[in-house]
Amino acid sequence: VRKPTPEDKFSFGLWTVGWSARDQFGEATRPDLDPVVSVHKLAELGASFVTFHDDDVVPFGSSATERDAILARFKDALAETGIKVEMVTTNTFTHPMFKDGAFTSNDRTVRRYALRKILRNVDLAAELDAKTFVMWGGREGAEYDASKDLYAAHARYAEGIDTVAGYIKSKGYDLKIALEPKPNEPRGDILLPTIGHALALIDRLENSDIVGLNPEVGHEQMAGLNYTTGLAQALWCEKLFHIDLNGQRSIKYDQDLVFGHGDLFSAFATVDLLENGFPSGGPKYTGPVHFDYKPSRTEGVEGVWESAAANMATYILLKERALAFRADPEVQEVLAAAGVFDLAKPTLDEGESLESFLANPAAYEDVDVDALGAREYHFVRLNQLALEHAIGAR
Ligand code: GCO
Ligand code: MN
Ligand code: MN
Ligand code: MN
Repeated sequence: VRKPTPEDKFSFGLWTVGWSARDQFGEATRPDLDPVVSVHKLAELGASFVTFHDDDVVPFGSSATERDAILARFKDALAETGIKVEMVTTNTFTHPMFKDGAFTSNDRTVRRYALRKILRNVDLAAELDAKTFVMWGGREGAEYDASKDLYAAHARYAEGIDTVAGYIKSKGYDLKIALEPKPNEPRGDILLPTIGHALALIDRLENSDIVGLNPEVGHEQMAGLNYTTGLAQALWCEKLFHIDLNGQRSIKYDQDLVFGHGDLFSAFATVDLLENGFPSGGPKYTGPVHFDYKPSRTEGVEGVWESAAANMATYILLKERALAFRADPEVQEVLAAAGVFDLAKPTLDEGESLESFLANPAAYEDVDVDALGAREYHFVRLNQLALEHAIGAR
C-alpha cells in the first residue's frame, strides 16, 4: 500500500487513538495518551489533520491558566508537525450533569451551561482555523417516553443550534456546523437518529445555511440503513459538510471498527461515491477524510498505531479500486446498459406542458408494458464487476 500524502487529507479524532479502552464492563486496557504524542505519531503515519473535543485536550475543570498552558503546548506540536486542526467538537456527554442531555436537558441550568461550554469552544475552533464545528448530541434523548416533552425537546435542540450558528455569524467566523446523527447509545433513543431526521431539522432552522451534516458509517448501519445512500441525500441537499468513517458489523452496539473492517463492500461503495462522485455528475465531497473509530480493547499501544494506519491503508486501497472500477470500459458499458446514465434525464421534456403530456399516447396508451416488464437491467452483472474490482481481481 502506498504511503498517505497530504492530498489524501486524512484526519483523526484525538479521542480515537487516545481511547484507553475503558468500557461498560471493564477497566482501561491501555494508558491515556498525551495528545501531543498523538499529534506527532499521526503526522509520522501520514495524517494531515487532527480533530478533538475540548476535553480531549484540556481536561474538564482545568483553570484558565492551566488551559492556556495546555493549549500553548498543543499549538507547538501542531507547528512542529505541520498538522492542522480541521474540525473541533464539544464534549457534552461525559460529565454527570449531562446525563439527561445538554441542549435538551430537562434542567434549564444544564442547557445554559452547555451553551456556554459550546460557545467557548467555537472561539477556540475559530482561533485554530478549523472549518467545521461538529455537534454530536450523544445524550440528547431518553430511555422513557414519558420523561421528555418531545415537542419542546426538538424546539430546544433547534434553539441551541441556531444560537451557536448565530454566534458564528455575528463573529464573522469562517466555520460551519455539522450535526452528527446516531440512533442510540449512550441514550436508549437519541434525537436526530439518522441523516434524514437531521436534514429535516436543519431545514427548519433560521441559520440553516451554515448547518449541515457529519454522518458516521456505523451510526447509519446501527439503524440498518445504507450509509452511501445517506451520503448521497446529504450531497443532494448540499449538506455533506464532514464525514466520520469507521466500520460496523450489522445492527448492534456502536463498534467503531477500522474503516472497511465492518461491511467492506459498502465501504467500497462509499469510497466510489466520495472519489468518483455520482455517475452523471453532481455535488462532490471535497472535505477531509476523517476517521472516527476506536482501536479495539484487545489492542495495546502498538495496536493503536497499527489500527490508525489500517484506516488510511484501507481507504487508499479502496480508492485505487474505485477509480479502476469507473475507468473500466466494460463497467461503463454495463452502466449504460443498466440505464444508470438515463436516470439523469428529466422525466418531462423541457417546456413540455402537463396538458400535452397527458394527451400524449406515447407516454401511456401506446406503451408496451409487457416489454418494459421484460427489460433486462444487468444489475447483478454490474455488481459482480464492482465486486471483482473491489477485491482486486480486475
Ligand atoms: C460515537 C460518536 C462520537 C462523536 C464525537 C464527536 O462514536 O458515538 O461518533 O465519537 O463522533 O463525540 O462529537
Ligand atoms: Mn460511533
Ligand atoms: Mn463520530
Ligand atoms: Mn466515535
